[in-house]
Amino acid sequence: MKPEVLVARAVFPSVLERLREHFDVECNEADAVWDSAELARRLRGKAGTFTTGSERIDAALLGACPQLRAVCNMAVGYNNIDVEACTARGVLVTNTPDVLTETTADFGFALMMAAARRMAESERFLRRGEWTKWSYDMFTGSDVHGAALGILGMGRIGQAIARRGALGFGMKVIYHNRSRLAPAAEAPLGARYVEKDALFRESDHVVLVVPYSHASHHAVGAAELALMRPTATLTNIARGGVVDDAALAVALRQRRIAAAALDVFEGEPRVHPDLLTLPNVVLTPHIASASVSTRLAMADLAADNLIAALGLGPRAGRPPTPVNPSVLGGH
Ligand code: 8YV
Repeated sequence: MKPEVLVARAVFPSVLERLREHFDVECNEADAVWDSAELARRLRGKAGTFTTGSERIDAALLGACPQLRAVCNMAVGYNNIDVEACTARGVLVTNTPDVLTETTADFGFALMMAAARRMAESERFLRRGEWTKWSYDMFTGSDVHGAALGILGMGRIGQAIARRGALGFGMKVIYHNRSRLAPAAEAPLGARYVEKDALFRESDHVVLVVPYSHASHHAVGAAELALMRPTATLTNIARGGVVDDAALAVALRQRRIAAAALDVFEGEPRVHPDLLTLPNVVLTPHIASASVSTRLAMADLAADNLIAALGLGPRAGRPPTPVNPSVLGGH
């Protein structure tokens, strides 16, 4: 008998097919977003699950599903999962790092450029039929090339954005991170480590790529926004909750900063209503990793993890990207 697994959201048919070679698969073909009661009901009796950032895996859910052994998230971030609770119960957690780094960095850079050069705002103006003449100052924004790029969170994606800025656009890169990069990683980018306040004070364009945790909750609020230059932009491709969206809306309305670009939101898919009314913010629906090939690579990696975590396939017992590998000894 094959082990039973739950694929909590719709996914590529080729990935489902591969999972079916190893497992008895229950899948969410309708792609409904299940509440925790429904998720717990579906997970009962399952040995593993393929999740996305939308599913919350917490101690209560784990308590209701004692047979669960692996939670394989199709995302690099795993703040939807209580990893400590999983580890305590011997449940393996995996994520999908690396495969999305460049795609996500492309999108972060594009958002930053869109905010700086007022692309979304000017496009909406044109579509409204308001473009009647050329003017010397129509939608003038701020330059990206040569500007100071401030990166909060200098992990894989942060460094990929820094490469684009430094090597492609001649930007001066400053960053703040829990730990400083090795000099050999800083040097090719000309990247300079600064304290968090200095990052906000000195940057022309701030990009947030820090993982969400209690420590990074509202890392950008009224105080940080007040430090920023009135011509500066803020781009968030990290997680909703890293930015205090209400405080950002106030700063944008008062033009304390020039513009923002957000791919992630507190309480998404809801968006703070004030943000929706503001012209100087670009809003996208959490799609930074959404190229076809990257989403397929993420889904394939999550599937590889699930197959290996449950002791099957060529990497049986050695899932490629575990988050809590200490659990593996017990499997
Ligand atoms: C995902 C992401 O699209 O990988 C992450 O952490 O935020 C995105 O790439 C999203 O989390 C869906 O799982």
